[in-house]
Amino acid sequence: MGSAGFPEEVAQEIRARYLETGHPFDLTIKQGCHLGDGYERGVTRFGVEGLVSQWDAAHVGISHEMNKLVRENKMRCHCLPQGVVVNLWREIAAGRPGLLTKVGLGTFVDPRNGGAKMNDVTDTEVVERVTFRGEEYLFYPSFPVQVALLRGTTADEDGNITFEHDGLINEGLSVASAAHNCGGIVIVQVERVTLRGTIKPMDVRIPGILVDYVVQATKTEACWQTQGTYYDPSFSGELRKPLDQIPPLPLDETKVIARRCAMALLPGGVTNLGYGMSAKVASIAAEEGCSDKVIFSAESGPIGGVPAPPPHFGNSYNASAIIEHNAMFDIIDGGGVDMTCLGMAQADEEGNINVSKVAGHPVGPGGFVDITQSTKNIIFCGTFMYKSKEVVEDGKLRILEQGKSRKFVRHVEHVTFSGRYAKPEQLILYVTERCVFRLLNGRMTLIEIASGVDLERDILANMDFMPDISPDLKQMDPGLFRETWGGLKAILGD
Ligand SMILES: CC(C)(COP(=O)(O)OP(=O)(O)OC[C@H]1O[C@@H](n2cnc3c(N)ncnc32)[C@H](O)[C@@H]1OP(=O)(O)O)[C@@H](O)C(=O)NCCC(=O)NCCS
Repeated sequence: MGSAGFPEEVAQEIRARYLETGHPFDLTIKQGCHLGDGYERGVTRFGVEGLVSQWDAAHVGISHEMNKLVRENKMRCHCLPQGVVVNLWREIAAGRPGLLTKVGLGTFVDPRNGGAKMNDVTDTEVVERVTFRGEEYLFYPSFPVQVALLRGTTADEDGNITFEHDGLINEGLSVASAAHNCGGIVIVQVERVTLRGTIKPMDVRIPGILVDYVVQATKTEACWQTQGTYYDPSFSGELRKPLDQIPPLPLDETKVIARRCAMALLPGGVTNLGYGMSAKVASIAAEEGCSDKVIFSAESGPIGGVPAPPPHFGNSYNASAIIEHNAMFDIIDGGGVDMTCLGMAQADEEGNINVSKVAGHPVGPGGFVDITQSTKNIIFCGTFMYKSKEVVEDGKLRILEQGKSRKFVRHVEHVTFSGRYAKPEQLILYVTERCVFRLLNGRMTLIEIASGVDLERDILANMDFMPDISPDLKQMDPGLFRETWGGLKAILGD
């Protein structure tokens, strides 16, 4: 996730060797979430034509060189649900045939909707639809693993690996087990090496019996904890950060959206926040003095504390526990998260959401598919139109210029969340700065509208479909549009 777990220096050497000698080549890369800093570090190092022929990942949006090769049809690419990717390693490690799950049904991952293929040259299959005991499932087959490329903080002389400078543990143990049991090799980059017997056994996250090579990094740039920092001790749990050091967000339409989403937080509820503006809900809770009223979690493993927005996405300030990536998805998939707030690039009349292919660009779902298929209370959030010009002032929204394109369309480009597959017990809201919809009986229903917004001119005329309008249409709380709000404590209780 981000820079965490990625062996940057090893990747740089592989790239340099390929450019010099033409070897290795034709690789298939499999990874969990996005890996890299969104600039030149990370899996994007492998973005040279010929080095990689297939790339399967949950998120491919910020590895620009690789993403370009996918868009140019120079590489096969599948985007899979993050929980599926990180849990499939365990099936491979244990010699089982694959992962059987309902995660992905009805979405772009489902073979009836393209089978997770992200461009025209992708002709390999990574998912099958099967019937088991009379019910439909997706089956993600195991595959052989020849090399595991991993990173930790410290290795001892026996190759035991610890993660004390990291903010995440990731899924390295399962990946190493899979590669080792397939007869492959396991390479782990670390920052430091210590003598045999100096690491406490409980601190070992990848045991030396699985590790073939340890590479000690020569540069700190290769050991960044997150996309945006070399080391923040409040991510690793070494220190705790005073929450008033988290800067308040400037008042704009995304803050209004984050505040409205925060109104749906459940007191004491386990809460997951997605990538993008949904991550700002944690900052709102901190600003409103309510961080301790909910239990935030991130799909990458931290529980408790305050999830950090990009460029530290996936890490949490002051987490109370950090568990393995795949263990977190067991909690998510089994329904252990009470509420989630996730991004929205497009929504349509069936309540479907697209975040995985935005304006033709392959992005991938991250944990979106897993989280939305199992969580009871879901808030999708995003601005009402793409690139509107708007001002928030005096408890109102003022629209200066309508957006360049619509987000509420007849059919989304890619189904990342399927409204049809939503369970009757799920409460699903779509929050924008102009209005709020709820999925009711399979129909998008307008339930709230912002003060200063005209229903016909600013909402209906800028949608490709006619939503149902609630007979009880309410005004969005004007406090959301003021410099200071102070309304969250009353909702979450003292
Ligand atoms: C969908 C997603 C891109 C929205 O991001 P966001 O920061 O909340 O929302 P924004 O509206 O600011 O969109 C971000 C960028 O996406 C693009 N975008 C979003 N919606 C778009 C649309 N309908 N048409 C064209 N571009 C769009 C824009 O380029 C925008 O950046 P810019 O306005 O600065 O140029 C983001 O949520 C994402 O990457 N999701 C996939 C992964 C995920 O959701 N994982 C969940 C758990 S890990």
